[in-house]
Amino acid sequence: MKTLITLAAAGVMAFAGNASAGPTEDLIAKEKCAKCHTATTTKKGPSWASVAEKYKGKPDAAAKLFSALKNGGKVGDEEDHKKVDASDAEIKAIVAIVLSSK
Ligand code: HEC
Repeated sequence: MKTLITLAAAGVMAFAGNASAGPTEDLIAKEKCAKCHTATTTKKGPSWASVAEKYKGKPDAAAKLFSALKNGGKVGDEEDHKKVDASDAEIKAIVAIVLSSK
């Protein structure tokens, strides 16, 4: 039993050690958001930090961004914003990263 627990703990640590970028960061990379967005600099789209700043204190921020990313379509002045091809939970995780950027 003790061996099992030790093994499990080692497994968890190996996973954590690997997590320089989490699954959500991988998803953001895969969806090529970085073509137009980065955490802190404005490219074609606004930086995550400026989006977080814009939505600061707005209670519907997460819901709004969630639906923008899920449904695509018009986002601000961008007529045809990229849709995120991912599960609801994954899109929520992306929104959380965006809104916690600074
Ligand atoms: C082809 C370029 C492009 C790509 C790729 C892109 N975006 Fe955007 N995005 C934009 C532009 C431009 C805006 C600004 C629209 C405006 O507010 O005028 C924007 C706005 C946003 C906003 C702010 C919306 C708001 O209401 O202020 C979020 C959040 C966002 N993008 C997330 C993402 C995510 C996540 C991805 C990857 C799945 C992504 N974008 C991929 C161009 C892009």
